Amino acid sequence: MKLLVINGSPKLGENNTEILLESFIEGFNLNKNNDVERVRMNTEETYKKAAEYFQGADNILIGFPLYSYSMPAGVKLFIEELEPLIGKCQDKKIGFLVQYGFVEAVHARPLEGYLKYITEKLSAKYIGTIIRGGCDGLTKNADKPRNKNEIKFLEGAKEIGKYFGENGHFDKEQLKKYSEPETEKKHNIFILKILVKLLNKIYWQKQLKKNGISLKESFAKPLSDEN
Ligand SMILES: Cc1cc2nc3c(=O)[nH]c(=O)nc-3n(C[C@H](O)[C@H](O)[C@H](O)COP(=O)(O)O)c2cc1C
Repeated sequence: MKLLVINGSPKLGENNTEILLESFIEGFNLNKNNDVERVRMNTEETYKKAAEYFQGADNILIGFPLYSYSMPAGVKLFIEELEPLIGKCQDKKIGFLVQYGFVEAVHARPLEGYLKYITEKLSAKYIGTIIRGGCDGLTKNADKPRNKNEIKFLEGAKEIGKYFGENGHFDKEQLKKYSEPETEKKHNIFILKILVKLLNKIYWQKQLKKNGISLKESFAKPLSDEN
């Protein structure tokens, strides 16, 4: 199988997306019949170029970092470049890899829904989205021995690549396991709630007082339809 791998990290140098994609490709290439073509998009011209490569490919994996629960603006630009292909990609299979700083998978679930939606708009087959949080330090720690989590992230991406290289699709259970934990642990949520309450009481309410605003006024919604 020939696979087009597009990296949408907007960074000009090393980036965490590349490190995970590398591991995926390592696994994918274990099947000697497989072949990878790689495209890096991080400038206006390369977003347009990537859309041209996309047009000529049947199997495509698009990797990028989560930005504000969504995607870097350039990746959005790339997606907009695909508009002429809406409804015309019946022969394409598209998968995604999204990595980011927070650890829990839940951060990327709304975006995952959108990625499935645009794939279906193109009439392409949605393979799935590889989601991995906690990846902030992958480039920073590249010259140090990898810690346990990092090894797990890299080995996991390799395993997913290997499975895809052999079967041409993702294994749902494998993706689910790879992206764990789905949410923060219950006892941590409990501690966070207390910390936020304390922060509000000690810091933010002091700021309100300093500025002559009551707690009730701080919840005002002057532009809301509810008024
Ligand atoms: C503008 C911006 C927005 C970001 N938004 C999020 C976010 O919503 N959630 C998150 O967990 N990490 C967020 N991050 C962190 C990146 O997803 C994370 O550092 C990622 O590993 C960077 O990947 P890269 O090195 O491939 O560019 C954000 C980073 C930037 C610069």
